Amino acid sequence: MNYPNVFLHGGDYNPDQWLDYPEVLLEDIRLMKLAGINAVSLGIFAWARLEPEEGRYDFEWMDEIVERLTENGIGIVLATPSAARPAWLAQRYPEVLRCNDRFERMHYGERHNHCLTSPVYREKVRQIDTALARRYAGHKDILMWHIGNEFGGDCRCPLCAQAFREWLIDKYGTLEELNRRWWTGFWSQRYTDWSQIEPPSPMGEVSNPSMWLDWRRFETCQCASFVRMEREAVQAVNGDIPVTINLMERFRDYDYFTLAKEIDVVSWDSYPTWGSGDDMALAANVAMQHDLMRSFKRKPFLLMESTPSLVNWKPHNKLKRPGMHLLSSLQAVAHGSQSVMMFQWRKGRGGSEAFHGAVVSHDGRSDTRVFRDVAEVGQVLAGLKPVLDARNQAGVCILFDYENLWALERVQAAQLGNMRYIDTVLLFYRSLWEQGIAVDFADMSEETSLEGYKVVIAPMLFMFRGGIEEKMRRFTEKGGVLVTTFFSGIVDADHLTYLGDAPHGLTDVLGLRAEEIDALYPEEFNTLVFKDDRDLPLEELCELPRDVTAEVMGVYGSDFYAGMPALTRNRFGRGTAWYLAGKPDPYGMKIVMDMILAEVKLPKADAEIDHPAGVVVTDRGGYRFVQNYSGEPQRVRLLCPMRDQISHNQIEGEWTMPVNGILILKKYTEKEEQED
Ligand code: GLA
Ligand code: ZN
Repeated sequence: MNYPNVFLHGGDYNPDQWLDYPEVLLEDIRLMKLAGINAVSLGIFAWARLEPEEGRYDFEWMDEIVERLTENGIGIVLATPSAARPAWLAQRYPEVLRCNDRFERMHYGERHNHCLTSPVYREKVRQIDTALARRYAGHKDILMWHIGNEFGGDCRCPLCAQAFREWLIDKYGTLEELNRRWWTGFWSQRYTDWSQIEPPSPMGEVSNPSMWLDWRRFETCQCASFVRMEREAVQAVNGDIPVTINLMERFRDYDYFTLAKEIDVVSWDSYPTWGSGDDMALAANVAMQHDLMRSFKRKPFLLMESTPSLVNWKPHNKLKRPGMHLLSSLQAVAHGSQSVMMFQWRKGRGGSEAFHGAVVSHDGRSDTRVFRDVAEVGQVLAGLKPVLDARNQAGVCILFDYENLWALERVQAAQLGNMRYIDTVLLFYRSLWEQGIAVDFADMSEETSLEGYKVVIAPMLFMFRGGIEEKMRRFTEKGGVLVTTFFSGIVDADHLTYLGDAPHGLTDVLGLRAEEIDALYPEEFNTLVFKDDRDLPLEELCELPRDVTAEVMGVYGSDFYAGMPALTRNRFGRGTAWYLAGKPDPYGMKIVMDMILAEVKLPKADAEIDHPAGVVVTDRGGYRFVQNYSGEPQRVRLLCPMRDQISHNQIEGEWTMPVNGILILKKYTEKEEQED
């Protein structure tokens, strides 16, 4: 098995940019050892160097690099170079270039912009992948394959258009069926020949939501089959080397739950703008992304890219403040990462990323602030061996579904073009994360099981698919706590509305039906008023429930629907189903969730740690990661003695955390207590 049982620490290594600088390449190794680097992702954009002309491969330079790395105990995450093609390839085979959403063929340049359908592109990629595998797959230090880079985007070339039609024929069988499920009676859209169907485009049809859903599913399918092709090529020689692709945050192009099935390990690239004002809000979002990444395969993931200092593609490229590199790196570990990898090892001299943060800057020094920060992470990770086998356990499952995301992004209703699905999911997530309550995510696919969770939250599940309403019903019946919201159970997997009361199939479970939804202007708000007259603001969306037999826990405070239920609870079977009609802000959501969770016993990571707001505790199998995102020093109080896995100090009672401070606390085992 090539996949090592250690935390990986390293990053993107692009020696192909430095072949004219042999002294730099030698120095790299010395510096890597100083920085505690034990793995690099190699050759992500090296195609032009590996195959300088069609069919002529040049591996010698890479042989040397591979030898040097392995002699020095540095493992290799070897990339397939498919994310950027050489100029000769584009020139000779223009079909490999993407067509944009105006059906225009792009010119050669940039990256991540090839056609995933093109048989030529697939064949050329398969050939170089095969050659790479033949050359290196026997090597014990190839830890894994890094397929392509950040797959994303669409192509609307004639090949893709034809493949889309074939995909549709396969799915629907007859045009009659497609017309029915795409509701083409609208605007005289009936198709009478498959060839009339084109990819959605502002030049043609762009607003049929059923078509949009199928387009996204088709694009997911093209990407999945491309990844599968690459995987088969590289694993043909040695199937033991696992395969990853690096995913992105808040990504909308493809269904990651589906893509994750094609790979062995999920990895992702995280670039938050730390220090830009509200690190707590930012940390909540990153934590959610980490948990989502872990949930795709229900196992530890890799942080494949992060910056040791800054990026260079945001309008304001702030430096990571002291302490933040360690804190953000260990945040990934807290949520289940088996690595802290960075983009990139060394800043190039030219190209658009010459000023992106890197471990080694243009001065080539190891006594810089950034280098020291990186070396510190390396040292800490090397001491965290026991954490490696600790697993994240969650009692709460949040349903998050890419098809629902696409459905909401195209529905012309309520807050047009701004339904803020991911933000709504984050609202719920944050209220739990702040209290140290662990969360898994699941989508609505057939194989999703809600068994074993105490609480299931289904924010804004506009679409129901995969029998999710049945699963939620059974989950509640058997004693679970179900939380649903406004704008749920309205359309099916074809984006056709259900006929009958909403949320589809759940009105008896919730004890109400949702009749209308009101969209508020940005400056407007309503309120949710509790029985004891406390209230909290509601914004953006307010749904109006009718025929409410559920217990009313809160009502609307104003407008023509003042007094109408805004938060309800319904006993169903042995469980409880909650319904939240309007959208609170993060502060209000915390109050709502406190009320809901008052009846459930859920383990909290901060059970033995008193801490102020701005400090968050996350549990990974008994290791409590205490993280200070408040921007101020903070005092925490431990209710029992614990050992910090970073400093190895025993900590008891009050403890002051610096700005961006982090502790990894573990309770003493009985044996340790006796020895002390
Ligand atoms: C992405 C890419 C990298 C690099 C970084 C810069 O994540 O995968 O190649 O461009 O962004 O932040
Ligand atoms: Zn194409």
